[in-house]
Amino acid sequence: EIEKIVLRTIQDSRGNPTVEAEIYTAFGFGRAAAPSGASTGTWEAKVRPPREAIAAAREHLLPELVGRDAADQAGFDAILHEIDGTPDFSNIGANVAVALSLASAKAAADAIGADLFRYLGGAFAQKTPLPLGNVIGGGAHAANATDIQEFLIVPTGASCADEAVFANAAVHKKVKELLVAAGKGCGKGDEGAWAPRIQDIEAFELLQEAVGAVSDELNFAISMGVDVAASELWDGETYTYKDAKRSTEDQIAYIADLVDRYNLVYVEDPLQEEDFEGFAELTSQVGDRCLICGDDLYVTNTERITRGIETEASNCVLIKPNQIGTLTDTYEAVHLAHTHGMETVMSHRSGETTDETIAHLATAFECIFLKCGVVGGERIAKLNELLRIEELI
Ligand code: PGA
Ligand code: ZN
Repeated sequence: EIEKIVLRTIQDSRGNPTVEAEIYTAFGFGRAAAPSGASTGTWEAKVRPPREAIAAAREHLLPELVGRDAADQAGFDAILHEIDGTPDFSNIGANVAVALSLASAKAAADAIGADLFRYLGGAFAQKTPLPLGNVIGGGAHAANATDIQEFLIVPTGASCADEAVFANAAVHKKVKELLVAAGKGCGKGDEGAWAPRIQDIEAFELLQEAVGAVSDELNFAISMGVDVAASELWDGETYTYKDAKRSTEDQIAYIADLVDRYNLVYVEDPLQEEDFEGFAELTSQVGDRCLICGDDLYVTNTERITRGIETEASNCVLIKPNQIGTLTDTYEAVHLAHTHGMETVMSHRSGETTDETIAHLATAFECIFLKCGVVGGERIAKLNELLRIEELI
């Protein structure tokens, strides 16, 4: 039974205020914080300014939650929806909702002395996901850098989380070395990826070299991917890059060519967030060798994922708990995708805290990848938790 709930404002990795929740039961304690996006999807659940949302929740929401059973996750999340009364948490705020929902699950797990991944995933949670991280980036996460938001790597040949995590770190280091050698030394974007003033094609070439070098050294395969975050490039008619304008048709051809040229195993949001048909065309062309993943397209929303299933838009779904607002909704999104043969990737946001919950969710829900960057305190909080989880498994 929930005895006490605390909400407070804490700082996120961009220095913005965000919501942290703590839930106390007689035998358990759970704490979780809401992340926040910069290239957010139009259909995401709505965030309310933290201080205002917390004040409102103290008055109208928390009294309804105290006394409830923290182990009844579905019931807890249903109350959040009921009191909110809107389809997108615009009343209580998805930031308040997600922090409370995750804190409740952690309190329930703690009450029975279980780790969160075990509590949610059960005895058969036996494998940690591979870490997917960005090492070069631009778009909405860094000014004057690449057009494509994220150049990603995933150590597909690694045999354990320890190998995998340090392989990504080694590529991140190698990329810096190559950038400096090319006279393109630079700082980092919001997620810790290098943000050089270079063209996208140069980024692909440089990353390919870095990946090749590290992969040779470590003796296992490391693959490349991207998050195009194409809604940010779309102006309603064309995809506008610094050096080109591309129609939808051109964009599909461009991405398909990149998949083959750089053996990309993962492409997120290659087209704008309403273009299910464009996604379907690209998936039909390269879906046999590459995961085509919808982020802004689906916003972790089962109605939109259902549309993706019906149109065969993609073979992968990005999962961000704060896009939908509760753990129950997050689970349902994962379950729906898996039931229809789609992979799922559990993901951080560009604005993060040191909250490590998504490492547990990715393991419990059997996501293929955990997308959480490579370096930086708020990113390694998840990666280091993954290392601890693997030890427990
Ligand atoms: P965001 O970006 O957290 O800024 O929305 C991450 C992503 O697009 O995957
Ligand atoms: Zn994305």
